[in-house]
Amino acid sequence: MTATTRRIVLARFCDGPPVAEDFRIEEAPMPEPRAGQFLVRNILISVDPGTRSRLSGKPSYIPPLKLGATVGAFSIGEIIESRHPDFAPGEIVSLADGWAEHVIGDPRGFVRRITDRRLPLATWLGVLGVSGMTAWFGLHRVASLKAGETVVVTSAAGAVGSAAGQLARLHGCTVIGVAGGQAKCDWMTGVAQFDAAIDYKATGDLSAAIAAAAPKGVDVLFDNVGNAMIDQVIPLMRQNGRIVVSGQVDAYNSDESAVAGIRNTRAFITHRLMMQGLVVFDDLPNWGAAETAMADHMVRGELAGRWEVLPGGLEATPEAFAGLFRGENTGRRLVRLAPDPDDFPKDTS
Ligand SMILES: NC(=O)c1ccc[n+]([C@@H]2O[C@H](COP(=O)([O-])OP(=O)(O)OC[C@H]3O[C@@H](n4cnc5c(N)ncnc54)[C@H](OP(=O)(O)O)[C@@H]3O)[C@@H](O)[C@H]2O)c1
Repeated sequence: MTATTRRIVLARFCDGPPVAEDFRIEEAPMPEPRAGQFLVRNILISVDPGTRSRLSGKPSYIPPLKLGATVGAFSIGEIIESRHPDFAPGEIVSLADGWAEHVIGDPRGFVRRITDRRLPLATWLGVLGVSGMTAWFGLHRVASLKAGETVVVTSAAGAVGSAAGQLARLHGCTVIGVAGGQAKCDWMTGVAQFDAAIDYKATGDLSAAIAAAAPKGVDVLFDNVGNAMIDQVIPLMRQNGRIVVSGQVDAYNSDESAVAGIRNTRAFITHRLMMQGLVVFDDLPNWGAAETAMADHMVRGELAGRWEVLPGGLEATPEAFAGLFRGENTGRRLVRLAPDPDDFPKDTS
């Protein structure tokens, strides 16, 4: 009998916020590694808001997904069969091959070997994975962050935002986090030790609330949300301020014609502002040093991971994804497909 696996494919193009019916679970023959590849049994898979930008069938910064294709995602799994001389069965790797129980790993693409066992496996998809790397390189390479600066982070209780705010705090900056709801604000000022937290859903005038928390102005805006929020912060920026465009979660469900614009552009001249986006994979050659620095911060208790692991297997994944756009996630949202290996610290999320 031929071995099979299961995967989630795009059943129809998303129109507006994603719903579970946009996806379908399929049974498929077990993928077979070619020379130089290996077969991975996924343990944890992630749901990422950025995935939404590939699900409308329209061009984005990465090519759109075709109907019937496996939905892309990051995962961590165990190699169970290898045809690569440097990767052996039993090794734990992180890769980006999708919502599937088994995937093919190929080191010519994105594969990271996880050898540091000081922290729960899930952290390697969060602070120590793409989320934390986006925060690190957004702050350090794009914004050239300096100690003593004032930093505003949006979606600051999310996976990227919670890492960005804490890294800025560790760098000696004043940090103001913006997120939806009191529970998220309590986490930001409590666990993450931000200087101020603003609930944008309860605040009539976000610009005034940020101005009150940052009376000398804002040096760096690390934005995960989109133009409407950026436009409210621009008038508060100080001379030589920098805006890091990390993500646009407010725009992923909209047609381009409906996306908010930015009006307050004069400040780019008067205040010599800079606004720059990033794609974190451009920084891949330098991830190792950032991973080590952040892992050390976490082990010393200086940097809190923020993640949740949902039960329910592959079936739970589409609904877990849809919940990101309703603000339901607690930081990095992962779905468990198999138990963690025994030699990692227990996941207490
Ligand atoms: N540039 C890169 O290379 C790169 C790499 C990875 C991720 N990213 C981007 O980074 C951003 C953050 O990613 P993440 O994984 O940490 O996700 P995340 O911030 O946890 O995203 C989900 C959160 O976004 C907020 N949200 C949803 N819809 C919103 C809206 N219309 N307006 C304002 N907030 C909204 C919700 O929080 P609230 O309750 O606070 O509203 C929700 O919990 C995403 O935009 C992602 O695409 C960029």
